[in-house]
Amino acid sequence: MIEETRRFPSSLVSALQEAQRVVALTGSGISAESDVSTFREARTGLWARYEPQELATPEAFRRDPRLVWEWYAWRRALVEKARPNPGHLALARLESLVPSFTLVTQNVDGLHKRAGSTGVLELHGNIRRSKCSVEDVIVETPETDEAPPPCPRCGAPLRPDVVWFGEALPQEAVSRASQAVRECELLFSIGTSGAVYPAASLPYKALTNGATVIEVNAEETSLTAHAAYSLRGLAGELLPELIETTFG
Ligand code: APR
Repeated sequence: MIEETRRFPSSLVSALQEAQRVVALTGSGISAESDVSTFREARTGLWARYEPQELATPEAFRRDPRLVWEWYAWRRALVEKARPNPGHLALARLESLVPSFTLVTQNVDGLHKRAGSTGVLELHGNIRRSKCSVEDVIVETPETDEAPPPCPRCGAPLRPDVVWFGEALPQEAVSRASQAVRECELLFSIGTSGAVYPAASLPYKALTNGATVIEVNAEETSLTAHAAYSLRGLAGELLPELIETTFG
């Protein structure tokens, strides 16, 4: 019998080959290889340098709008310099290989869209967009040194269009993600510690609907024991290799 030379169980490969509806849930780990800081890895996690409650909450913005705006402006500049990595590009390719593909991300860096993915559901918003902190409508980020800039419509301070701790997620994105998870046969959970709800509930919803859940993560998480497969390693290496093995 010829030994399987693949790095992946043949049952995983055939599940992906046969899947009609696939969902991918991603977290900051898929952007780590693009040098966009991850959130909870002590050595590099962005939060390790700042107390989250100081910066990413409505209270922090009310208390010190300049500090919060400047932190996001700094992060936005980092994100602008970042490039999609092979993990992002592999998911953009997968979209063209399966009949129905839904990409749900917790990331606010916009790298999936820049990699070519379409219809990305951004559960936590997008740091590259700004919105009025009073009218809650998206506005062009004005080129000004004022921090935060005033809304061009009403003069109230602008804020990043991201979900802060304690805020509701965008309803449209959440309902479309929940529907895709209810209908899928296969769900990838990629580069996320599964520490933040409701995003972290999606793989469990897929499991209760009988879907095959495949985790791709650099370390074990609370999902690992429940997933059908847990591939340990870097998304930028594992995803291109799995898609190449499966689809050629
Ligand atoms: N490939 C695969 N996994 C990776 C890689 C990589 N190259 N690098 C890091 N990881 C894994 C880490 O092991 C970790 O389990 O990605 C996970 C990142 O977890 P977090 O840092 O907790 O990020 P995330 O799960 O996206 O956080 C969720 O929390 O702070 C809030 O709103 C913020 O969207 C964020 C949410």
